[in-house]
Amino acid sequence: MAENSNGIRPLVAGNWKMNGLAAALTEAAAVRDALPSLGTGAPEVMICPPATLLSQLASTSRGSALAVGAQDCHPSASGAHTGDISAEMAKDAGASAVIVGHSERRADHGELDRIVQAKASAAHRAGLSAIICIGETNGERVAGLTLTVVERQLRGSIPGTADKTNTVIAYEPIWAIGTGLTPSPNDVAEVHAAIRKNLEDRFGADGLSMRILYGGSVKPSNARELLSLPNVNGALVGGASLKAEDFLAIIRAYA
Ligand code: 13P
Repeated sequence: MAENSNGIRPLVAGNWKMNGLAAALTEAAAVRDALPSLGTGAPEVMICPPATLLSQLASTSRGSALAVGAQDCHPSASGAHTGDISAEMAKDAGASAVIVGHSERRADHGELDRIVQAKASAAHRAGLSAIICIGETNGERVAGLTLTVVERQLRGSIPGTADKTNTVIAYEPIWAIGTGLTPSPNDVAEVHAAIRKNLEDRFGADGLSMRILYGGSVKPSNARELLSLPNVNGALVGGASLKAEDFLAIIRAYA
């Protein structure tokens, strides 16, 4: 088992966002089929496809090392919420985790911290891990507010049901998403250290063992440097997770 700081097994998760028709499942299958050759040093690997592909990906990945996650869930278990899916439905379709509070949902759907917290709580209720996303805008960064924003989001978005097994934090600076830009290694390490301290203050020993992923323009060429930083326990990868070759190159940065 690959371990970095705090003896935590890393997680490399691919967020396909609103990309992928059924034909894209061949990319996921190529990732799945390559995992056994990575051996015991491999990180945990997950793909979060659009909801339309969840069940198909879960059934073709069953029994393999590839985990499957959803990209969002509604706080309620069921009801009159046209177009939404619940955490229970994602679990029923074969997901073991769900991303909540991604900046694109916070921006496109006006999701506030308390909604994100309710969604994370729903994930726990359904027996899913919550991958809770946080991160500052460029304006907040330039104004020197990164740590203030991140700490506010942590306080507001993580439910009291969180523990080291059911919660993953993903730090995704909004200005780094899909732009090819990344913070300096020192900046990533500083923010992740602040997140770790915050988690430890609130959750004690569990806070020391929760995974903190970095996300935002992770690609094969920068993965090794970003993923070797202290308190970086894996990556949440967007664009580079769509092609098996690139995603596997990122995974191998840990293996
Ligand atoms: P990119 O890797 O495309 O920058 O996206 C990151 C992200 O938003 C993952 O959730």
